[in-house]
Amino acid sequence: MIVASDIADLGQGLASLHTRAQKIAFVPTMGNLHAGHLALVEQAHHHADAVVASIFVNPMQFAAHEDLSTYPRTLEADLTALETAGVDLVFTPSDREIYPEGSASHTAIHVPSLGDALCGKDRPGHFDGVCTVVYKLFQLVKPDVAVFGEKDLQQLLIIKKMVGDLGLPIEIQSGATQRAEDGLALSSRNHYLSAAERAIAPKLFSTLTACAESLPSASPNSVETLLASSRGELESAGFALDYFELRGLPLLQHVSDATQDCALFVAARLGQTRLIDNIQLLNR
Ligand code: PAF
Repeated sequence: MIVASDIADLGQGLASLHTRAQKIAFVPTMGNLHAGHLALVEQAHHHADAVVASIFVNPMQFAAHEDLSTYPRTLEADLTALETAGVDLVFTPSDREIYPEGSASHTAIHVPSLGDALCGKDRPGHFDGVCTVVYKLFQLVKPDVAVFGEKDLQQLLIIKKMVGDLGLPIEIQSGATQRAEDGLALSSRNHYLSAAERAIAPKLFSTLTACAESLPSASPNSVETLLASSRGELESAGFALDYFELRGLPLLQHVSDATQDCALFVAARLGQTRLIDNIQLLNR
């Protein structure tokens, strides 16, 4: 596995991959890899004959009060995991390599509406940071395919919109959310949970699941009651809710029932840890 820590090495690594690979798939990450990331790598292998991953904790997607400085950094273990997963090249740039003049004054890509809803409302500027770094990484790696997790469904929809709007010649694939046995979606931020919080955390997915199961048979005027009762359950369990909402796909518009493609989205805090999850309700 080639490890490139700067843009020049990345260029050389890609040139050597292109001598033997027709198609390149890309999995961007912020490191601290878990089975969810490795499932995306496995999926990437199905779409291409070489797989490139990146590990970059992107300062531009963190607000000043967020966890940039404490975000778990586990480079050695991540490289071992990626090598075992058959990744061909890993790009591990420094902040300076991506933002030579700092990220605060950097040009930003904003996807309106989609980027302002849900997490975009609670974390202003977050998706601008995500889109900007993903665009820059796409420009550097020039993949044919890129794979993103459905755990971050809003992020996935925003990236697809950006790629469509900017006419980027990249196919976007998605990988299903990977979960612990008790249902908690795998996330690097799960490490922040205390033992007591970790015991409560699976309630997020069980509440989402129960609500999603009731929605298809709910009459339009009982949907809001169902959502309110799910919110109440989570709050009684100890979550501080940012949102628990039903939104249409792929535009995240407000919907009043589940007769069209939609998803239930939740973001909630347990102590200092913000967890997100979702369930898609596809009417196909
Ligand atoms: O999903 C993530 O880990 C990040 O938002 C991404 C896509 C790697 C951009 O920094």
